[in-house]
Amino acid sequence: MAGALNITIHIDVLDSAEELTREEKQAMQLAEEAANDAYAPYSNFFVGAALLLDNGTFFKGSNQENAAYPSGLCAERTALFAMSSHYPKQKIKLIAVAARRQNETRYLPVTPCGACRQVMSEYEFKQQMAIPVLLHGPDGKYYRSRSIQDLLPLQFTKDSLLEF
Ligand code: THU
Repeated sequence: MAGALNITIHIDVLDSAEELTREEKQAMQLAEEAANDAYAPYSNFFVGAALLLDNGTFFKGSNQENAAYPSGLCAERTALFAMSSHYPKQKIKLIAVAARRQNETRYLPVTPCGACRQVMSEYEFKQQMAIPVLLHGPDGKYYRSRSIQDLLPLQFTKDSLLEF
């Protein structure tokens, strides 16, 4: 064995909403609102995502399910693809995500799935600016990663396709 690659990731843990910036609070509120628009009749798991763009505007998305299960899409990718289709040149300053069960008001400590992390990584690489991700943590806390690199170390990016 040649050695080991020890990777450290950093996630800020915030005690309560009071520790969020104004923009973060707004983004999280919009993510929570977006979750109300989820179309999730199969999982009853309502997820909302809100993107804050460089120009100060917000973009929302929610999970969209389908009777042919794999045809559905997570809230994060729904928001990201819609945003990039409408505003291909805008940079993303922040992504907030909120998830709850259909008939519950409590937000769950949920982190984005692997496919969404990969898509976030693509846009972070594209815009050459870190994208922080804000999530509900356990016990009213919030988790904030400062870059997708912390959610997806050893990323497969455009550069991975180059010949070495
Ligand atoms: N889901 C999201 O929208 N985002 C996530 O980060 C995790 C999962 C959705 C997909 C599916 O509609 C439901 O939650 C249950 O997996």
